[in-house]
Amino acid sequence: MSRQAGPRVPRWAAVHALWAGADFERYFRWRRDREGDPFFVRFPGFGAVLFTGTNSGARELFRAPIDILRPPHPNPIEPLVGSASLILAEDGRHRRERTLLAPAFHRDRIRRYGSIIRDATLDELRGHGSTPPWRPGTRVDARAAARSITLRVILTAVFGVDDPARRAEYTAAVGAFLTAFSGPLLLVPALRHGAFGYAPWDRFVAARARLDELISADIARRRGAGETGADILDMLLHSRYEDGTAISDDDLRDQLRTLLVAGHETTATSLVWALFRLHRQPHTLRRLRAELDDAGPGFDPGEQARLPYLDAVCQETLRLHPPVPIVLRRLTGPFALRGVDLAAGDTMGISLPLLHSDPEVWAEPERFRPERFLERRYGPFEFAPYGGGHRRCVGASLADHELRIVLATLLTHVVLAPSPRYARGRIPVAVPHNIATGPHAGITFDVVSECPRTATRM
Ligand code: HEM
Repeated sequence: MSRQAGPRVPRWAAVHALWAGADFERYFRWRRDREGDPFFVRFPGFGAVLFTGTNSGARELFRAPIDILRPPHPNPIEPLVGSASLILAEDGRHRRERTLLAPAFHRDRIRRYGSIIRDATLDELRGHGSTPPWRPGTRVDARAAARSITLRVILTAVFGVDDPARRAEYTAAVGAFLTAFSGPLLLVPALRHGAFGYAPWDRFVAARARLDELISADIARRRGAGETGADILDMLLHSRYEDGTAISDDDLRDQLRTLLVAGHETTATSLVWALFRLHRQPHTLRRLRAELDDAGPGFDPGEQARLPYLDAVCQETLRLHPPVPIVLRRLTGPFALRGVDLAAGDTMGISLPLLHSDPEVWAEPERFRPERFLERRYGPFEFAPYGGGHRRCVGASLADHELRIVLATLLTHVVLAPSPRYARGRIPVAVPHNIATGPHAGITFDVVSECPRTATRM
């Protein structure tokens, strides 16, 4: 890495890492304000990464030649997703796996999942998920509810699981698996060793084995019985690579585990932030409610997902709170990012909170103002909550659809108020939760009333 001129790699790496871990967004803003863009950040066990948070930097990174780009290595989430995961795949293998997976997430196909998403939300409101029935006077934990809804959507859309007993097995297994891979194991690879069944790593390995048992049993059942369904697993079982071969069971299991991990916490976090921001800003909430009321209670969920102000609210939420805040690429050849020369083996990245608050692009970047998305279209190098280039999030259409329909369903069925602790004061800090970052505290809401037009449907 040529670092004679330009940005310097900070000393006191551990101090920087601690600060970045405690308040990632503030740390990155501080570095930008102090040193300009780009700048190096050092991650323990990983090395220095050159970060940019500007439109021109994002353009350069996303348009870099694909043949010199790899995913970061070592990747802290490898134990979660598995070595065959699309997230870790390189080169031709990435192309092959992506060609197989991407059609299952195509926008036209995703539209069919509208009623699955609405039903999952209605069931949560009725108390059939992880929160009690949302009746007036109840206090609900938004994170628990959002996770339960998004997990159910993935289980139904991807695995075709609609039997409540099977769903409960999966929900328990996924919960144990993600909880077992908590902060220390994610951040400190040295802890990833067993100790006669008593170490955190042992608990994680056991939880992963339990989840894999469920996934493998579903794959075997589908293959054995030649069963077909309208879900994504079915599509993957019947898809073929260019050479005519089918995906192996082991690879399919890693891809399915990836979809579970990548697809539920990220969307859940965004839902919590959207509810939080809306309820801190009554005029924004009023405008959204008016749009939903005009559309009427029986509105088709797919149509609902296209409402312009709802769309703007979801985009503004992803702008201010991108659940995956950094996008990384490892280089296998020389490349210059914003004039800084990098060599093979170096890693470069985009800080999405910086990109989404670049003063050259965003007026009053700290404000939650969905109207900005009605006034102007933002390009893929200005607004990139799903990353970009050849590795852009494969589940982006599903996530977008889900965010809009869950939000619309909640807001047309209940009137909420943030519990007093969250009604005013500081915005909670975003901290890492497995693959995503989210508010450090579980934000709670009080159910004020049911919406008169939809109350009988609950
Ligand atoms: C609000 C929700 C979500 C956000 C913000 C999000 C964000 C991201 C980001 C930033 C990346 C990295 C892109 C890059 O490197 O350029 C990514 C990759 C990925 N996401 Fe998502 N994601 C979300 C939901 C989902 C869902 C619902 C699924 C699937 C069910 C999914 C599956 C994946 C996969 C498989 C990759 C790896 C793609 C590749 O390397 O080719 N994500 N996501």
